[in-house]
Amino acid sequence: MVMRVSTGVPKLDSLLEGGLPENSVVMVTGGTGTGKTIMSLQFLWEGLQKGEPCVYLSLEEEAEDIKADGRQFGWDFDRYEKKGMFRVIFHDPFETDVSSVLINQIEYIKAKRIVVDSISMLGLYMKDKATVRKQLSKLMKSVKNSGCTAIIISEIEEDSKALSRFGVEEFVVDGVVVLNYLGIGDEANRSLQIRKMRRTNHGKDIYPFKMTEAGIKLVGNPSSPPSLKIK
Ligand SMILES: Nc1ncnc2c1ncn2[C@@H]1O[C@H](COP(=O)(O)OP(=O)(O)OP(=O)(O)O)[C@@H](O)[C@H]1O
Ligand SMILES: [Mg+2]
Repeated sequence: MVMRVSTGVPKLDSLLEGGLPENSVVMVTGGTGTGKTIMSLQFLWEGLQKGEPCVYLSLEEEAEDIKADGRQFGWDFDRYEKKGMFRVIFHDPFETDVSSVLINQIEYIKAKRIVVDSISMLGLYMKDKATVRKQLSKLMKSVKNSGCTAIIISEIEEDSKALSRFGVEEFVVDGVVVLNYLGIGDEANRSLQIRKMRRTNHGKDIYPFKMTEAGIKLVGNPSSPPSLKIK
């Protein structure tokens, strides 16, 4: 039986047979401002509420900015950082071996959940797809061996039909969740799609969600959220 790890996003777990498969590496991808960072913080906040230590590795935004993002939704990460249960670390991928930094932090606080934001930054310093794939596989292996459940953020460029920046990331991960933002109106303005989740009979539709004062919430009925069918 596959153990499940709650995403922290109301109603999303029911589309995933209870949550992300334990010890899986899931890519959350989408264009700018689609909610990738907020969804990942929500996932870690859920873990902290369950007593699970968490690490957020940022390769782009400063640690203070990441925590400020969470504060707007009432997620006081500072409190958990003081208790030694949470670490948010900022690293320049150009200067550091990201895998070893991450593993050190995971071991130090005995993390159960981790987020890397974003792997697109890693690839920017690599010369070809083969190198990106090799480095990503190395990072994934370290994450897998750590026993954590991980969200790896990737970016999709505006108007691109690809799932990731380099077109290789989605093949090395266990799951892919795509976030969309239409940028017009309010209802069904934002949506998510589970494109892949190994070992899971997951929801196959496009599910509208909202940003609320408590974070991301899927709109509609918990057992079967409304969907925008793809034509
Ligand atoms: N308090 C809030 N209430 C409602 N919506 C918010 C709030 N804070 C942020 N947002 C929305 O969320 C977006 C930012 O979400 P987030 O930072 O998770 O996006 P992202 O996908 O990580 O973007 P980036 O590519 O810049 O990293 C904002 O552009 C805004 O539309
Ligand atoms: Mg972000």
